[in-house]
Amino acid sequence: MNHGSLEATAKSLVAEGKGILAADETVGTITKRFESLNIRSTEESRRTYREMLFTTPDVSEFISGVIMYDETIRQKDTQGTPLPDVCSRLGIIPGIKVDTGAKDLAGSPGEKVTEGLDRLRDRLSEYYKMGARFSKWRAVIQMTDSLPTQTCLSVNSHALGRYAALCQEQGLVPIVEPEVLMDGPHTIGRCQEITGQVLQMVFNALYDQRIFLEGILLKPNMVISGKECSKQASVQEVAQATLQCLRRHVPAAVPGIVFLSGGQDDRLATEHLNAINSLPLPKPWKISFSYGRALQDAALEGWHGKNENLRDGQQAFYHRARCNGAATMGKYTEGMEEDRARKAIPAHRAEWHDD
Ligand code: 13P
Repeated sequence: MNHGSLEATAKSLVAEGKGILAADETVGTITKRFESLNIRSTEESRRTYREMLFTTPDVSEFISGVIMYDETIRQKDTQGTPLPDVCSRLGIIPGIKVDTGAKDLAGSPGEKVTEGLDRLRDRLSEYYKMGARFSKWRAVIQMTDSLPTQTCLSVNSHALGRYAALCQEQGLVPIVEPEVLMDGPHTIGRCQEITGQVLQMVFNALYDQRIFLEGILLKPNMVISGKECSKQASVQEVAQATLQCLRRHVPAAVPGIVFLSGGQDDRLATEHLNAINSLPLPKPWKISFSYGRALQDAALEGWHGKNENLRDGQQAFYHRARCNGAATMGKYTEGMEEDRARKAIPAHRAEWHDD
């Protein structure tokens, strides 16, 4: 294991003003997103969509890395170049989702455990050869009045530790993602309590399994009110509760925290990130994003499965990436939203290359 290169990769992923695009939806998930807009999901339409995002002109100003799914990392662009090489040449680090999904946890009704440890060493070695330099594993924690159980937290934390150790052995930076879902009527206070417990258990597991903390990134949920909670916390309340929780439970050796968006409205996800970065409290880690839906929703809608809209899709993606890049420095303003996506990419770069 080369500590120096792991640390360097982790730091590059949270370089000033930059964050990560999560484009690692499984075939099932991306198909659902496509179908909600009447877009046909085929291997080719998924490839075209991902190529559109990755080759958005100048987006590497704000996007440091892209998380791909197994199908995507094996695909090529229209010129025949493998997509991970396309990204690397544009200055974007290729990453790969390596878990095989959250499955029902035996003996714990309503809870999940993430699988994918079998043959993981071999798969990581193959992905490294394809150009991947970081990876992702997502644990899913469902919250109710009586959940999560200690069993659920313990097995998921243990699996995150096993995954992280194997990634570091194979030269990939592990993104450790314990997601407390925002579904349900819980208050922001309960979300903070559970998120704190989860983070504490995850870092205990990482410590027990001797993970090199300078060579990981943490991908947590923000501390927010449940989607069905009648009292939704304000942007300031979310920022304060989230930063307090992270300061209590995330060691300073971790170079970066990259939030998931978790189903938040895309502009709200940007506002929350900006507010967290604007708080006048010491932050020992970089605080950035690894958004899926909050970076892609507008781009998917703009593209709508049509070749003639590829440029609109890219402009929408560039715009959200730019806003979130500013939010990582606490420099996002509402005025940025008024620079319509249409004008966001510098005009001389706003061509879609379909030659
Ligand atoms: P969302 O930002 O859509 O939650 O996706 C991020 C992600 O990678 C979840 O695993």
